[in-house]
Amino acid sequence: MRVSGKVVGQALVELQKRIKPGVTTLELDKFANEFFKKNDCEPAFLGYHGYPSTICTSVNAEVVHGMPGKRVLNEGDIVGVDIGAFYKGYCGDSARTFAVGKVSAEVKKLLEVTFESLNKGIDKCRPGNRISDIGHAIQEYVEGFGYSVVKDYVGHGIGQAMHEEPQVPNYGKTGQGPRIIEGMCLALEPMVNIGADEVKVLEDGWTVVTKDGKFSAHFEDTIAILSSGPENLTRI
Ligand code: MF3
Ligand code: CO
Repeated sequence: MRVSGKVVGQALVELQKRIKPGVTTLELDKFANEFFKKNDCEPAFLGYHGYPSTICTSVNAEVVHGMPGKRVLNEGDIVGVDIGAFYKGYCGDSARTFAVGKVSAEVKKLLEVTFESLNKGIDKCRPGNRISDIGHAIQEYVEGFGYSVVKDYVGHGIGQAMHEEPQVPNYGKTGQGPRIIEGMCLALEPMVNIGADEVKVLEDGWTVVTKDGKFSAHFEDTIAILSSGPENLTRI
């Protein structure tokens, strides 16, 4: 998982360099697919419940699971890039939301707060804590800025499958759910909306968007729980 995590993290670094006005989301998908091949990894999303692409690209009011295609990224857009890969049967899963060129101060703040909320969650990934301590820390931080956390989609355990038990919500009270123990691996992935938390799935069966059309951001890392605390497997 250290290897798959590192490849996924490096892919995001390379993708960030390629995100600028004029690029299509399909070009990003193609790059990620080739990057995984070169690094002896297999895409985790391609074919997952019929998903047709290597990565998810979620633009502006799209929350998660946007599908790469002919869409051209424009100055002022944001794009959530979610990618996952297996190395020798072990999965890494990570996401970042990038600004395309210059974005408004309001949107920049959304990106900063969402990334920092992920860090707040990661800090709770220690033996002895409970799963809900993660979501509580994320929700408390996010709502302090007047944003909302999406409730309909959650983080997850990860290992030989991309999605394993337990579910890791981005909200909740402290001290509930399974205890966090050494050796667990968790994918934390706050989805944060500028407006209300309600989302819906588009006709294509995949793309999740905010109901109010306001922008949404998504950051994700795969975390291993060590006796000493969290090891971030996907952050470069
Ligand atoms: N990366 C997503 C997650 O964090 C899963 C993508 S859904 C898929 O759980 F269908 F694209 F694989
Ligand atoms: Co995930």
